[in-house]
Amino acid sequence: MNAAIEKGFEFSDRDFRFIRTMVSEKTGIELAEHKKNMVYSRLVRRIRTLNIGGFREYCEILSSDSSGSELINFVNAITTNVTRFFREEHHFHYLRDVVVKELTEQKPEKIRIWSAGCSVGMEAYSIAMTMLSAMPELAYKDFKILATDIDTEVLGKGAAATYPSEVLKDIPQEYHRKYLETSDDGETVTVTDELRKFVTFKRMNFLDHWPVKGQFQVIFCRNVVIYFNKEVQRAIFDKFADRMVDNGCLCIGHSENLFNVSTRFRSVGTTIYRKIA
Ligand SMILES: C[S@@+](CC[C@H](N)C(=O)[O-])C[C@H]1O[C@@H](n2cnc3c(N)ncnc32)[C@H](O)[C@@H]1O
Repeated sequence: MNAAIEKGFEFSDRDFRFIRTMVSEKTGIELAEHKKNMVYSRLVRRIRTLNIGGFREYCEILSSDSSGSELINFVNAITTNVTRFFREEHHFHYLRDVVVKELTEQKPEKIRIWSAGCSVGMEAYSIAMTMLSAMPELAYKDFKILATDIDTEVLGKGAAATYPSEVLKDIPQEYHRKYLETSDDGETVTVTDELRKFVTFKRMNFLDHWPVKGQFQVIFCRNVVIYFNKEVQRAIFDKFADRMVDNGCLCIGHSENLFNVSTRFRSVGTTIYRKIA
């Protein structure tokens, strides 16, 4: 037998139950029964890195992890970070055509946008490109984009702002030269410093303390709460509403909705809401 084929680890139903409970308590994500294989493949890397005997031992490490250091790696391994530049592009059209027009008329002192559950930052930089291109005077105003996530690895990638050059296919042509620099070997692109300076990355778990102050004109929270239970979703959208200006704009993911979750927003388009209370 090929020596390179690695031996699998036993993953009992009991250990899977423990992990599902841990994930739900620590992140809000409710893992379905059929996700056992996915959980195995995500966590087996931690077991190999730690060079331990298997899932039983890993669960023991998690339950006695008083420093929380393995918990960070565990959460990083378990989260799904799929994202794309200009994903669900109608949100960016709405920003460009409606929100920018209002901000130009209202001239608020500060403009604050939040990409909540930002993954590797593509969403935050898509917002930055859209806003600065449609409203160049923002460069001289008090304009900031906050990008938060529970996963420390994706936050590092967001701050580094370097992506494989395939991402160019998702980004409107007119932004390529304006906001991106291609590496000498053509393999990667990096967001320019002029754009990056508007985006701040911070770790924030929706289930913990919310150290976020300020009144946001726009919040993007897309494809994040989809696996959270309704009760957790209710608490999250309530806290978003508390941190938004009147009539602030909220964009959520394509398979999410606020039905039975929040009465503090009204729908103004596909997965676009405005704060009413
Ligand atoms: C699928 S990505 C969505 C990225 C981006 N919003 C988009 O739509 O392209 C979901 C992100 O939510 C983050 N996330 C999951 N649970 C979270 C929690 N409890 N607090 C903060 N972020 C969380 C994950 O780490 C992941 O990066």
